Amino acid sequence: MQTYNRISLLIERGIGCRALDIDGNSYLDLAGALGTCSVGYCNEEVNSAIIEQIRKIITTTNLYYTEPQIKLSQKLALLSSLDKSFFSNSGAEANETAIKLARKHTGKPGIIAADGGFHGRTFGALSATSKAKYTEPFKPLVPGFMHIPYNDSEALRKAVTEDTAAFIVEPIQGEAGVIVPHNSYLKAVREICDEKGILLIADEVQTGNGRTGKYFCYQHSKIKPDIVTSAKGLANGVPIGVTIAAEEIADSFGKGDHGSTFGGNPLACTAALATIAYMEKNGLVEKANNKGAIILKNLAELKSKSDLISQFRGKGLMAGMDIIVDAENVAEKCIKKGLLINKCTEKTLRMLPSLTITEAEILEGMDILHGVLK
Ligand SMILES: Cc1ncc(COP(=O)(O)O)c(C=O)c1O
Repeated sequence: MQTYNRISLLIERGIGCRALDIDGNSYLDLAGALGTCSVGYCNEEVNSAIIEQIRKIITTTNLYYTEPQIKLSQKLALLSSLDKSFFSNSGAEANETAIKLARKHTGKPGIIAADGGFHGRTFGALSATSKAKYTEPFKPLVPGFMHIPYNDSEALRKAVTEDTAAFIVEPIQGEAGVIVPHNSYLKAVREICDEKGILLIADEVQTGNGRTGKYFCYQHSKIKPDIVTSAKGLANGVPIGVTIAAEEIADSFGKGDHGSTFGGNPLACTAALATIAYMEKNGLVEKANNKGAIILKNLAELKSKSDLISQFRGKGLMAGMDIIVDAENVAEKCIKKGLLINKCTEKTLRMLPSLTITEAEILEGMDILHGVLK
């Protein structure tokens, strides 16, 4: 089914930050497979762990325990400072779980989300997503959802009613064009959620897994959400989603309240554990801060050389650049020069490279971008 505006490129393999097509042409991937390739394509340590696990078992069911699932749940509890995980297979499912959990825990239907927010394509996640292009053809959506301006904590205060269960928010909006809120936004949001007695759900599907220089982006704000969702780069490209919650909230789910056949399978959990271990061994999360600073410095230089760039912004290895010409056209021209970069809005290009990217690769990407814009 033709739901994607596909580029005519037949990708066959990947190594590090480069994807290779069927003819062996190599492309520096600044889009990082949309943020899923967190420790590089064909990362040897992650792949070895995956192969070893495949030799043991790929999937059993959640009627039994497996060691990788237990270990990953323990690791994520440590990384998030929350307690319990529910595993699924994608970001949308992780948010779906979060929405159901918030309703079950509070007994209330209302979910507040932010304008510009993207939370996935399944009905609950889609109802939290604001872009009319994604929602209009599929109405009626799930009742009980409303949207307020992003980066405006007072709008949240005004929107809460006695029927509100939770506020779901991206710490940095990804699909909207890498919109970084002001430094005190999440802290103010946390305070309002506490004051009003509603849950805070942080959608870290894109910002999580070390991308912004902390394992979870909300950690920059020194707050703790009640529920966190993650997916994308968690297992370096092996499909996985997770919803992590504080114990008293997680325990509102009873037997049979939720489920997923493949969720938390030993293969995906092993890949996630190996990805996290690789990040920790190589200090990749901390290094994302410096690498991000290099990207922003180079974007500033590029902007001074090109009138086509109107704005840029980012945090860690998540950057967006607004241009005054068609972003798709620029992205297509970049491919011809060996660079993959993602168009996330009509006039915005987005970068979500692997955390293993080197300074030389960043400079190489910037050079290509400069040439194309010229
Ligand atoms: C913030 C955010 N939430 C949820 C999703 C949906 O994730 P998935 O495509 O894995 O369902 C995405 C995907 O881009 C996302 O960026």
